[in-house]
Amino acid sequence: MSAVSLISDTEDLALHYEQESIKRQFVSGQVLLGKIGIEPGMKVLDIGCGTGLLAQHVAQMVGSNGMVTGIDPLPLRIDLAKRKSTATLDFFVGDAVDLMRFPEASMDAVYFNSVFHWIKDQPLALRQAFRVMKAGAPLGIASGSADHPLQFHVLKDRVMARKPYSDYAEAIDGQPNNLSAADYRKLCADTGFVVRDISVETTVSYHDSADDIVDFYNASAFGNLFGNLPVELKAGARDALIAEFEAFRTPDGIRQERSHLFAIAAKPGGR
Ligand SMILES: C[S@@+](CC[C@H](N)C(=O)[O-])C[C@H]1O[C@@H](n2cnc3c(N)ncnc32)[C@H](O)[C@@H]1O
Repeated sequence: MSAVSLISDTEDLALHYEQESIKRQFVSGQVLLGKIGIEPGMKVLDIGCGTGLLAQHVAQMVGSNGMVTGIDPLPLRIDLAKRKSTATLDFFVGDAVDLMRFPEASMDAVYFNSVFHWIKDQPLALRQAFRVMKAGAPLGIASGSADHPLQFHVLKDRVMARKPYSDYAEAIDGQPNNLSAADYRKLCADTGFVVRDISVETTVSYHDSADDIVDFYNASAFGNLFGNLPVELKAGARDALIAEFEAFRTPDGIRQERSHLFAIAAKPGGR
């Protein structure tokens, strides 16, 4: 189970995430929205909304009769999200495991985009989502897949297996807790959801610089890259990871492959 730190975030990391996620999480988020079926007039909850880019997009989809609320535990990300607030889009600092601010059966749709793997008590988070959803409301999760480990994590694990990093076994904490398709099926069913579809899509992108890949990952992981290594070892571990990525350089740039798992379920009843 990952033990991510929520105190390693900085204004720079939040801003970097805001600028760069538009090419990544925002894109997979749009795929997720298509699978959920967001419609005008819906009341939607975005759990782990980050800087609010996707929530802002959903607010346009639900229109003036809808409402989108985003929550995230990182105050610096919510500060950026709040700049996007409108009459139909609002944001709060909050955690997936405590949705008590929202009434029971008040949401027409709930989603987690690139968030679920960071949550420590995933069954509790799903129970909380279930409580606030109306009967028939769809749930969407886009996350990593334990069946298709991310190239980034494979390379990071390779670095961490070497001396002196391997002396700090706990440093691997802070790694996302990705689930398999079978795990999602069971977790959703155990919570009471009806599973509609679980799929995995793989994307390939090319990058000029391995530094950029690693920097974005750190912004996306809110400062948890090599979080538990002693500070004097972090630069060396980072350089070793960059060298691992360089091995994937092609004439088009460094080839990065990422698999996204999409889990779509619904609260029984209704519609
Ligand atoms: C990779 S970002 C994704 C942000 C946003 N959903 C997007 O699509 O750009 C992961 C987000 O998960 C949030 N997160 C981590 N643990 C969480 C928790 N327990 N409850 C809610 N959000 C959480 C982080 O604060 C971070 O903003």
